[in-house]
Amino acid sequence: MSEVVAADGQLASSRPCTDTLAKMHEQPISFARGAPALELIPAGELAECAYAVAQREGAHIFAYGSGAGYAPLRELVAERHGVESGRVVLTVGGLQGFAFYAVEQLARRPGRVLVEAPSYDRPLKILAREGAEIVALRMDEEGLDPDALEAELRRTTEPPSFLYTIPTFQNPSGRTLSTERRQRIVEIVTAHGLAVLEDDPYGLVRYEGKAPPSLHELEGGERVTYTSSFSKTAAPGLRVGYFVLPKKDAPAFEERAVSTYISPPFLAQATIAEFIARGHFEPNLERVCGELRARRDAMTGALERTFPAGSVWSRPEGGYFLWLELGSDVRATELAARAEAKGVAFVRGEDFFPRGSGSGVSSARLAFSYETPERITEGIEVLAGLL
Ligand SMILES: Cc1ncc(COP(=O)(O)O)c(C=O)c1O
Repeated sequence: MSEVVAADGQLASSRPCTDTLAKMHEQPISFARGAPALELIPAGELAECAYAVAQREGAHIFAYGSGAGYAPLRELVAERHGVESGRVVLTVGGLQGFAFYAVEQLARRPGRVLVEAPSYDRPLKILAREGAEIVALRMDEEGLDPDALEAELRRTTEPPSFLYTIPTFQNPSGRTLSTERRQRIVEIVTAHGLAVLEDDPYGLVRYEGKAPPSLHELEGGERVTYTSSFSKTAAPGLRVGYFVLPKKDAPAFEERAVSTYISPPFLAQATIAEFIARGHFEPNLERVCGELRARRDAMTGALERTFPAGSVWSRPEGGYFLWLELGSDVRATELAARAEAKGVAFVRGEDFFPRGSGSGVSSARLAFSYETPERITEGIEVLAGLL
């Protein structure tokens, strides 16, 4: 089971109306949706920004344009990452960008793709569809294990196509790669000439602790491509993601965008640029982080109070997810079916490993981004009652 209900493009209001609230209560409690709750989306401010840019820019904003995206937003992203704007390509969401990157990189350097075990399920599906051989590398509480990466690179003389990694508040595990390991991984990929895609949509959604440097920063952006999106920091329905590419790769990436959708929806990208220019981005992020912290605390608190010994879970300092190990005698598939009957949904751990690997059968991804703290507590109590 993946997300039970489609997460995209729902209501325009940041304050759910009474009808909507009533409907939410009829709905299952979803720990499956890796999506922000509607009340986390700053709909009013975004609406004002969209209207203002449409008025100001007129027909330009509704016309075709550069495949690389709305120039002022490319500039803002470039400034934030300390690169020239020619290296920034805006995408219709981070996942669309992943598909471009994977196809481009696999064409340029065919070979196996290295991922973390577990890893975000949608890229795994894209890679499988492209016929790529996927190698899942061991990770633990500190993130991807550099020894596992090095061993895989030494295993055969055939070079892999690329490494796909989500180092901060990983989807699905919520884990963050330590700074020490980041440094080692950069040394390893540099020594082996390995291309890396660093996917970082959750990095800014940090509610405690200190942010480690990105792989991209540590490596200098020669072979590490960085991607993020505004889905978790503003709104997923706007579909605005971005890539910071090695200079030589940017033209091909842009060409892929042009030959897929000609040019992106500029109104959405200009809305985000306006949102940043008006100074809304940081206060909104602070609000979102506060809400998510309360939801994380509700989930970990309820797990501690109600779950039996033998279950363990991660305690992320940010992001949307925690990873639950249920103990080897529990089958997540069976638990998910019984939980669904009681109105609680989550995604089974095995969905985040390459198909048929046999891994993750006793684990689960729990998203705390979508439900209120009260419903989170209620949902965890239901799960505990089934164990
Ligand atoms: C790790 C990761 N990458 C990329 C995405 C895609 O996000 P979007 O396409 O909305 O930018 C997600 C969404 O949940 C994610 O968890």
